[in-house]
Amino acid sequence: MTIVVTTPTGNVGSRVTRLLVQAGVRPTLFLRDPARLDPDLLDHVDTVRGDQGDAEAVLSVTADADALFWVDPPTGDPDPIATSARMGAVVARAVRENAVPRTVFLSSVGAEKRSGAGEIDGLARTEQQLDETGESVLHLRCGYFYSNLLLDPDALREGVLRTAMPVDHPMPWVDPRDIGDIVAARLLHTGWSGRRVEAVHGPADLTFAEAAAILRRVTGRPFRAERIADEDLHTALVTAGLSDKQADAIVRMSSGLRDGFTPENPRGTLGTTPTTLAAWAAQNLPSVSTAPGRGRGDIAVAAPAAGGEWISTTWARGTRRFP
Ligand SMILES: NC(=O)c1ccc[n+]([C@@H]2O[C@H](COP(=O)([O-])OP(=O)(O)OC[C@H]3O[C@@H](n4cnc5c(N)ncnc54)[C@H](OP(=O)(O)O)[C@@H]3O)[C@@H](O)[C@H]2O)c1
Repeated sequence: MTIVVTTPTGNVGSRVTRLLVQAGVRPTLFLRDPARLDPDLLDHVDTVRGDQGDAEAVLSVTADADALFWVDPPTGDPDPIATSARMGAVVARAVRENAVPRTVFLSSVGAEKRSGAGEIDGLARTEQQLDETGESVLHLRCGYFYSNLLLDPDALREGVLRTAMPVDHPMPWVDPRDIGDIVAARLLHTGWSGRRVEAVHGPADLTFAEAAAILRRVTGRPFRAERIADEDLHTALVTAGLSDKQADAIVRMSSGLRDGFTPENPRGTLGTTPTTLAAWAAQNLPSVSTAPGRGRGDIAVAAPAAGGEWISTTWARGTRRFP
């Protein structure tokens, strides 16, 4: 069985890759730099170097695919929604021309709106592009990744979760590793077909205030949730160097998914995953250092934002890293 995995170095893709290897499959990993993989995996995978925006490369790597895991990668391009549409066109062409039998797509809560949810509108467009191929596709509409908290080490040190959501607004939070479990299971299972949409909602809906309370308990530090007005968020993002469209796409992920929004796909058995925010935080925010020289017990985060990428997705209902 040939299973092609995109973003194998990402939060979700890395878990998918490891589980496929442990299942005895030798996945084909499509990625920009194999040196970024865990070295112990290299004997168990085939790697094909390429950029997901390269239509010919994606067509080639999926030529014999029995199943494909596709993620619209966070690229840092100035117009994230247009970039998603471009990526969606790339994967849709490959799925159609190669008649890839099964594709699992990493989508988001809010994609059902199709417009008005910022960056998630781009994922919605990719859903539609994949649907138009006529091949079997599964869209996993995932909740807010716990790992978004790692994207703003300064906020973690400060002990504040800033959000454009009301701090008492419940929404699904999920460990991306648990999403990887579901993706791997669906890639390995050959008995599904057609167009499917499923929620991956983590163990429980949480408000930002509840999330802050959990982090307080786990870390022993005074975390709090703080609402930021949409226009202040937009200004802060532009001041920090984002384009107007990037800032707008982030703000709208919150403004589009709050007042009266309820996910179309309800929490269910298939998409209720086990890892709690407390368990995730204990593992991923382990280092509450009070060592001399670190200052007031600063948190040293386990996986700070990589590659110079910047911004707090805790300031928005973020779905990706922002440059
Ligand atoms: N964060 C959320 O709350 C949330 C919620 C729902 C859905 N999502 C969706 O989840 C996805 C992100 O998943 P994640 O957190 O697992 O990813 P991630 O950890 O942010 O990793 C990004 C991955 O994309 C790769 N990449 C970036 N640009 C690329 C390109 N041009 N060509 C090939 N690979 C490229 C990176 O590879 P390198 O190693 O080369 O850098 C890396 O593997 C996004 O589509 C987002 O919309 C996120």
